[in-house]
Amino acid sequence: MRRGTTLPKTDPIREFAPAKVNLCLHVTGQRADGYHLLDSLVVFAGIGDWLEARVAATPLLSLAGPFGPALPQGEDNLVLRAARVVMPDLPLAFRLEKHLPPASGIGGGSSDAAAAIRATLRLAGTRPDAAEIARLAAGLGADVPVCLNPGPARMRGIGEIVEPLAGFPSGGILLVNPGVEVPTPAVFRALAQRDNPAMPDVLPSWPNIAALAAWARGQRNDLEPPAREIAPAIGTVLAVLARLPGALMARMSGSGATCFALFADETAAAAALPLVAKANPAWWAKAGPILSAQGKAQAP
Ligand code: C5P
Repeated sequence: MRRGTTLPKTDPIREFAPAKVNLCLHVTGQRADGYHLLDSLVVFAGIGDWLEARVAATPLLSLAGPFGPALPQGEDNLVLRAARVVMPDLPLAFRLEKHLPPASGIGGGSSDAAAAIRATLRLAGTRPDAAEIARLAAGLGADVPVCLNPGPARMRGIGEIVEPLAGFPSGGILLVNPGVEVPTPAVFRALAQRDNPAMPDVLPSWPNIAALAAWARGQRNDLEPPAREIAPAIGTVLAVLARLPGALMARMSGSGATCFALFADETAAAAALPLVAKANPAWWAKAGPILSAQGKAQAP
């Protein structure tokens, strides 16, 4: 996409890149190119990275935050790649404050890339062509399209078919990662069965988070069994989460290793944090709200 006649804004801007959580993730088939067909209920948490962007003489990325040093800083970083594909003529300097553990099933890299797309479009001052942006996002990674407008969504295809879900209940969420990186391709390769049942065609409407959790408990993450084989620590985390007072359901997100538990609200989720730290003080654990409405890419 080329820049129009509008002059780019010069003040730095900030975008929140929230964690993506797959409340369920059904693998329903495999395409000829090897990618898997999915049917997933996705939500976002008020826990995430921050991306600051400004117009610069040359493209630049600096990294900060607890997981900043773990990331590649060069041209192949998803933030710079995302900015380049969307607006090749507009050099931007980014500062990524990385709070989410990388390669951990909560879409950190994808959410950062989506935040970079939003920031680039804001700075360029252009009105985006939504279909073109979605196509460019899908080219960056299967989870990037759903991260463009963080909010409850049903995600199908290999990730490119995104259906926003309105009227979603509010609630709290706890994310726990045991500190093991699980490579996504390895988890998909280890799947025993690739043509599993999808979610029902029409999803129920959930009056509250307890009803949603009760329904989601009857669904699956088909990547959980192979990921647990590769990283047995996932099973340990899930056993701890399932026993937490107030936990409505517990499951692994994406291809792991981050697991989540749902709670009535953020306060109930935060109250469980000391128990998680007691189980294993080395685990990464954060509590926050579910972002229950679309288009609010802001930290609460
Ligand atoms: O697109 P993304 O970079 O997130 O995917 C990482 C890897 O996960 C892919 O290279 C592919 O091996 C696997 N994958 C898949 N089917 C999907 C999404 C990802 O097989 N729908």
